[in-house]
Amino acid sequence: MAILITGGAGFIGSHTVVEFLNAGEDIVILDNFCNSKPCVVDRIRTITGKEVTLCRVDLLDREAVEEVFKTYDIESCIHFAGLKAVGESCMMPLRYYHNNITGTLILCEMLQKYGAKRIVFSSSATVYGKPETVPIREDFPLSTTNPYGETKLMIERILKDLHTSDPEFSVSILRYFNPIGAHESGLIGEDPKGIPNNLFPYITQVGEGKLPFLRVFGNDYATHDGTGVRDYIHVVDLARAHLKALERARKVTGVEYYNVGTGNGYSVLDMVHAYERVTGLEIPYQIVERRPGDIDECYADPALAEEMLGWKAEFDLDDMCRDAHRWQSQNPDGYPDEV
Ligand code: WQD
Repeated sequence: MAILITGGAGFIGSHTVVEFLNAGEDIVILDNFCNSKPCVVDRIRTITGKEVTLCRVDLLDREAVEEVFKTYDIESCIHFAGLKAVGESCMMPLRYYHNNITGTLILCEMLQKYGAKRIVFSSSATVYGKPETVPIREDFPLSTTNPYGETKLMIERILKDLHTSDPEFSVSILRYFNPIGAHESGLIGEDPKGIPNNLFPYITQVGEGKLPFLRVFGNDYATHDGTGVRDYIHVVDLARAHLKALERARKVTGVEYYNVGTGNGYSVLDMVHAYERVTGLEIPYQIVERRPGDIDECYADPALAEEMLGWKAEFDLDDMCRDAHRWQSQNPDGYPDEV
């Protein structure tokens, strides 16, 4: 019996594969490498000393997806695969809806057809839109402000309807906050395509001199220092939450939602200062205008995940800075291109 991990060569996916392999699970990675590199799979093998099966497949290729289910005895799925850039989704909504929604529909059809009725889904705190208050609980109102976020919310609803029609399904929906950091080996980490959209890879690239300075998107937010506050969580803590979620999904059926964050909010300038303190590097920055769509504050109330999954974030901000720096300094240009 194997666990299918879609998007398993991506940033969060690869760290999750490592944790599942270390836990003794058999893993099949399904990835089309549209936002990752094949060398990641070799690095996973190096880190764990374990074999992992790779299927270079696009979820939109129904025949190829079904071939994976015919070939491997899949018992459950961790579903990461999807396009995830907020700004890009606003420019090409049809590509995002087709890729993320149609791909998920094909995946769910095969999970049902082949009796693999356990799925842990990679959702996002973006489904909360602009929360009235913080910290955010799972019962907060849901709303989205961009097509990427809309695909996450739609997939949550698709999975709920799937369970309603087929109560044998176990669905665990994990709403991530802001994953950063890297595996302690420095062999795998965050490697965004082109100029990073997200704060932390931008900071780590400034630290390595790959970018001249950080643009701080606004300092007039209603926060302690005027810059945006987010719940940054170590990617390994996030990966370990998936083990706990599947452990529970193997025992119960139904649809459950969990905020996966630390419960701590840090501002942009908090992150800059922490990275400088931990690494000794200078991170020059300029305050510029706000980025459209950004909100003041967003951080989790992670109590439900602790109560129901027995999961709690263990790494602190210094760990996140140290591990992200090790990855970026060992891989200043990210992963090598496929030869
Ligand atoms: C964090 C803070 C920015 C870049 C997004 C998605 C979310 C998830 C994580 C996919 C904000 C500020 C950023 C920069 C800056 N992605 N910032 N300069 O926007 O909280 O969440 O990424 O699942 O769904 O919405 O993360 O890292 O882009 O921004 O000042 O160059 O850093 O304004 O306050 P965000 P982020």
